[in-house]
Amino acid sequence: MQTMRTVYLNGEYVSESEATVSIFDRGFLFADGVYEVTTVVDGKLIGFDGHCERLKRSLGELHMKVEINRDELLDIHRELIRRNGIDQGMIYLQVTRGNPGDRDFAFPPEDTPPTMVLFTQHKQVVDTAIEKEGLKVVSVDDLRWGRRDIKTVQLLYPSLAKMEAKAKGADDAWMVQDGFVTEGTSNNAYIVKDGKIVTRNLSNDILHGITRKSVLTCAELLQMDVEERPFTLEEAYVADEAFATSASGFTNPIIEIDGHTIGNGKPGPVGDRLRALYLEENMKAAL
Ligand code: PDD
Repeated sequence: MQTMRTVYLNGEYVSESEATVSIFDRGFLFADGVYEVTTVVDGKLIGFDGHCERLKRSLGELHMKVEINRDELLDIHRELIRRNGIDQGMIYLQVTRGNPGDRDFAFPPEDTPPTMVLFTQHKQVVDTAIEKEGLKVVSVDDLRWGRRDIKTVQLLYPSLAKMEAKAKGADDAWMVQDGFVTEGTSNNAYIVKDGKIVTRNLSNDILHGITRKSVLTCAELLQMDVEERPFTLEEAYVADEAFATSASGFTNPIIEIDGHTIGNGKPGPVGDRLRALYLEENMKAAL
């Protein structure tokens, strides 16, 4: 159990027990908000600038006129790390279209103040059991909306998919559209076959993962072969290796898909090497 956290709400640092948001908040009534999750290792932020840029893009795509000052946002993240003594874990950030004082499908006036919330989570992210043992996934239809490139707080379907996976004895779900894997419920998906890494190309069908971008740069540094294209479940079942990337998971091995053992059922060498280099490079650049 975590002790009472200090969180950030609209310009103030307050105890989590005192941080309240209106029942009319657009985030609550319409899932009208965007978020970012930035990982902390050794008290430092991994990939902060990438998350900040994606936040600005998500806000822009939803026509939310919110000024994001990179240096101020960095200070808030660091202050929360300091106040909550975070060594390993995450900073969750959410911005919504604010509180119009009533429910209406139309957006409130542009000068309606947004709601901005940040809070910390303690979580072991380095040397985890998952990294050594791997994850089992099952496939589910991808029933999400068509703008998955925007990081909205509309997470009900991924949450249902995760529960379906758990009910089937797996850890996560890979979502499938027209026979091709899109991504995991909260991560990007990869397979490796004959030394080649295959991951879905960027489009509105998937979130443009900050970890994905960095991991693909690492693959290039390691002179690994990468193909960015959709892949089928059938390809995945007979892959030599599979893994998933996300801010808090880095690269996590996938050892089983729909009951098919991947490779020898153990984390594979490509994912392991990428994870090691990813951590090395990102720790050097951590803020
Ligand atoms: N999830 N795809 C989806 C659908 C995601 O929700 C996420 C992130 C990713 C990976 O993106 P990144 O590498 O930028 O973390 C891909 C976050 C971690 C979450 O919802 O907790």
